[in-house]
Amino acid sequence: MLNLNARPETGGRLGDTIECRAVDPLDVGPAAAEILRLAWAPPCLHYSDDYVNWQLAFPGSGGARAALATHGLRTVGFMAAIPRRIWIDGRVASIHVRSCLAVHPDYRGMGVAGRLVRLILATDGTTVGFTEPGSPTEHILAAAARARGLTFRRAAELRTYAFTGTRREPDPPAAVREAAVGEFEVAAARCAGGGTAWSRPAADQLRHYSADPRGSCLAIAHGRDGTTLGGGLIVRSHIVTARGVEIVPSLDSVFLHRGHDTALAALGMFALDRWQSDGPAVVTAPNLHTVPPDAIRRAGFRATRSAFNLLVIGDESDPIVRCARTTNLEVF
Ligand SMILES: CC(C)(COP(=O)(O)OP(=O)(O)OC[C@H]1O[C@@H](n2cnc3c(N)ncnc32)[C@H](O)[C@@H]1OP(=O)(O)O)[C@@H](O)C(=O)NCCC(=O)NCCS
Repeated sequence: MLNLNARPETGGRLGDTIECRAVDPLDVGPAAAEILRLAWAPPCLHYSDDYVNWQLAFPGSGGARAALATHGLRTVGFMAAIPRRIWIDGRVASIHVRSCLAVHPDYRGMGVAGRLVRLILATDGTTVGFTEPGSPTEHILAAAARARGLTFRRAAELRTYAFTGTRREPDPPAAVREAAVGEFEVAAARCAGGGTAWSRPAADQLRHYSADPRGSCLAIAHGRDGTTLGGGLIVRSHIVTARGVEIVPSLDSVFLHRGHDTALAALGMFALDRWQSDGPAVVTAPNLHTVPPDAIRRAGFRATRSAFNLLVIGDESDPIVRCARTTNLEVF
């Protein structure tokens, strides 16, 4: 067991003795989870071993990539890029989402994050990521992209919304039910165009979403006449707060192509009802950027103070880098 709490020795050029290297993500799950739990301050995702292992095993082109920083036998930093499949500019494309960046508090300011990011960006292919606006991570990513001659673009600011379901209608115009993988695939495929990098998970990726150890559900919204309005990926997310680990249902990703307001309200109610007994009666939605703002309001979702920038890094010749104005991918 690595001891993450022992302080490093002082004196000398400590930064020079830290090794950063690309690793097989499937070999480092528990060490990655431990450094993530130590580095992030609440409120933040709960990086359980199960959750981190699940994310690092996400199927997709080339699999996940990871970089680890060690000082002797201690893990002092980690970063990953996880595969996702999108639809943009009339075609399917494979990308990676940069995520899970963490440096041990005792080893900050020594360039560890910069080295981890450069290792992750050293592999070809476009990556996207979600960072707090103006955060050090944005600065680190911009510098690493510049050093590699890659384009770095802030494509959108995604606001986090909250839904409490106070206006429950007796006979709502839309209903939601749990969907099988094949049905969800068909609903997701109806979302296209509009300069959006639409999440377009393949069947094996949808099965992986369904196996999320936190609990999850692929949901379909339909109108009274049975017409499909779209789908939503709902997750029983685990958030670390000052009170400990809390369960908060999260509408992680929405795939709506019609009846946005009624479908969104129905997805919110469904998420609330499904896991209500577990914790606070609120559903979060970190990415509703593909839903028109007036539909979000009519559905009863309210903006919170939390926001993330969608960052795109890659070669200027890639249409994703040139065209993506937003995405419905989940923020993680
Ligand atoms: C953000 C984090 C990964 C930075 O790690 P780090 O190893 O200390 O960063 P580095 O030493 O490589 O710094 C790289 C650059 O960022 C700047 N930077 C780092 N932390 C900063 C801070 N808190 N405020 C302002 N600038 C900062 C450094 O000055 C440096 O700039 P330079 O290259 O122009 O000199 C680390 O603080 C951390 O783990 N935080 C908690 C988890 C987190 O926020 N993860 C990222 C979320 S997307």
